[in-house]
Amino acid sequence: MTRSTVYSLLSSAGDSRNVTAKGWIRTKRDSKNIIFFELNDGSCISSLQIVVDKEDGTVDETLNHKLLTGASVSITGKLVTSQGKGQGVELMAEEVTLIGGAPADYPLQKKRHSFEFLREIAHLRPRTNTFGAVARVRNALSNAVHDFFQQRGFLWIHTPIITGSDAEGAGNMFQVTTLDLSAPPRRDNGSVDYQQDFFGRKAHLTVSGQLQVENFACSMSNVYTFGPTFRSENSNTSRHLSEFWMIEPEMAFCDLEGNRQLAEDFIKHLLSHVLENCSEDMTFFDKWIEKGTIENLTKVIETPFTHLTYNDAIKELEKATVKWEYKPSWGIDLQAEHEKYLTEDVIGGPVTVTDYPKGIKAFYMKQNDDGKTVRAMDVLVPRLGEIIGGSQREDDLGKLKRRMEEMGLDTGEYDWYLDLRRYGSVPHSGFGLGFERLVQYVTGMQNIRDVIPFPRTPKTIAF
Ligand code: 4AD
Ligand code: MG
Repeated sequence: MTRSTVYSLLSSAGDSRNVTAKGWIRTKRDSKNIIFFELNDGSCISSLQIVVDKEDGTVDETLNHKLLTGASVSITGKLVTSQGKGQGVELMAEEVTLIGGAPADYPLQKKRHSFEFLREIAHLRPRTNTFGAVARVRNALSNAVHDFFQQRGFLWIHTPIITGSDAEGAGNMFQVTTLDLSAPPRRDNGSVDYQQDFFGRKAHLTVSGQLQVENFACSMSNVYTFGPTFRSENSNTSRHLSEFWMIEPEMAFCDLEGNRQLAEDFIKHLLSHVLENCSEDMTFFDKWIEKGTIENLTKVIETPFTHLTYNDAIKELEKATVKWEYKPSWGIDLQAEHEKYLTEDVIGGPVTVTDYPKGIKAFYMKQNDDGKTVRAMDVLVPRLGEIIGGSQREDDLGKLKRRMEEMGLDTGEYDWYLDLRRYGSVPHSGFGLGFERLVQYVTGMQNIRDVIPFPRTPKTIAF
């Protein structure tokens, strides 16, 4: 008989028809006459209750001993309306086949496990309620990302993973090489001769697809990237990964105001999609991970985002009666504690901060006429702080070149990027949304390592 998913069975009527379900045993209750199993196959958070009548010989003693938590099984029987509380239907087993046994040392027994422990068995954690729910929400969000842009006529551009340029100019890049590290070829002056490396020069994993996607914005008008990015900064926090996914829209003929509006519409679209399509998983997160999540997200969807300039944000921080670890003053980069205060205490929701000092932002941002600030834009949210970083781009060749020189970048290496300003330069803008921070925001999960299947962080690369 063809297999039905647990999800489809749970959403259908208990009309005594014959069905087959396959999955993994989550729990087992073995009483005198009856065995109850909770069967889960990942199609939804709920498990299907399987009822085995011990009297009728469906499961003999030898098989019963092997039907343990973690084992995979195939069950055929009648789908009936449940006698017990908590589920609409249950499966009265008539045939039980063990597919793969799981001995008693299976690490995921019924008790609640800490997320720290589960990170050590990251290969098994998708079999828990929380990580199953995260995987489904992550999938729904990916889908919503593409929906949003495709509906608006944006083209998805596949920017390279290996790159010869540092998009953020910040030097947090992983090097890619095929040279023999124990005896690299050297030039006369002793430095490594990268002309002999695979690409004939130094290469790295990308920190952002922005520079390349700008090329496509300045020809196709509205484009976006959605792919993995890599950063080698040594940040061991609950919101930093060494490998994370980023979505980067880029729009020609668009200024900072248009960029800000797109970011707001984008986030609202993503939140609405998840609330509509993942209600069971979201109810779980609301109950067990972060109380009030659904209500908070609903409020965010209904309320216009607050906009503050960096100047105003600093004024708010300076007048706060908070004991700061890092005292706010004009020119500093906003720290986590500042972002938290602005979003949680001042605004109580997302805040878009624009027009940051040029000294703390990337070389490519459009300079304001005041000579001090740039058309930067960060979207900050409660609990997490920065979730989006973006800007209008500098479209004036002379200004961009001068800024790069001031910041010590080799303009020769970025010549292809400067060409966009030489030939048919247009005002254009874009931003990057950190996908894992988005998943954290939506689910309420505290640690970014728990919203990506296999986290990469300093000194961690098991699995
Ligand atoms: O602010 P960032 O560095 O901006 C850029 O990379 C621009 N090139 C984007 C653009 O304008 N096209 O990074 C964008 C977002 C951050 O707001 C944050 O959400 C996320 O990427 N992010 C990280 N997420 C997880 N781990 C890290 N180490 C991250 N670094 C940035
Ligand atoms: Mg940023």
